[in-house]
Amino acid sequence: MELRIAQQHEYDMLEELISHAYLRTLQDELDDQLFGLQSLAIAWDGKQPKGYGFIYWPGPRELGVADLIPGCPEIFRMTVMPKYQSAGIGSEIVYFLEDQAKSKGYASIGLAVAYDNTRAAALYRRLGYAETVANDFTASYKQERSDASVKTITERCTFLQKLL
Ligand SMILES: CC(C)(COP(=O)(O)OP(=O)(O)OC[C@H]1O[C@@H](n2cnc3c(N)ncnc32)[C@H](O)[C@@H]1OP(=O)(O)O)[C@@H](O)C(=O)NCCC(=O)NCCS
Repeated sequence: MELRIAQQHEYDMLEELISHAYLRTLQDELDDQLFGLQSLAIAWDGKQPKGYGFIYWPGPRELGVADLIPGCPEIFRMTVMPKYQSAGIGSEIVYFLEDQAKSKGYASIGLAVAYDNTRAAALYRRLGYAETVANDFTASYKQERSDASVKTITERCTFLQKLL
């Protein structure tokens, strides 16, 4: 498994992996990376991308959380293709993003997880992520369904943080 930051020339290989479910195209994501707002890490098995995770550098994306925990980069949209889950790839992506944050001089890193996503929350806790004061907030995002209709998802989340 090799972890790398996504490159523009890999667009065709990544288009299928990165869902458009958040009403943002892969090009939107790569443009934000070019502007230094975020980075997209890809887990490659040879030429096959198996999972990914983003990190948003300015701090927590929810304004209410950013007020409470300013300047803490946020890992988001962690995804491993279902057939490759539970083999350590998600953990590798998190470790890689932690190294990226450390090399940029950040002292901590965090992520939001929905209360009902107990498996992901257990994984992050095992990796050293702990509760913060931002322990009950509502996150809302739009998701595009396969029939192109748009649904708004609202989740109760907690923001976990790890000191680097
Ligand atoms: C959350 C997610 C990214 C984790 O990725 P993953 O690759 O499955 O994570 P890991 O394999 O590192 O760790 C998960 C499990 O594998 C186990 N594991 C870790 N390394 C392992 C290894 N080398 N061999 C076997 N099992 C291993 C862990 O103990 C853990 O146990 P669990 O299955 O009981 O939870 C993935 O499950 C996913 O895409 N979920 C859907 C989207 C989502 O919920 N994203 C998170 C939003 S906050």
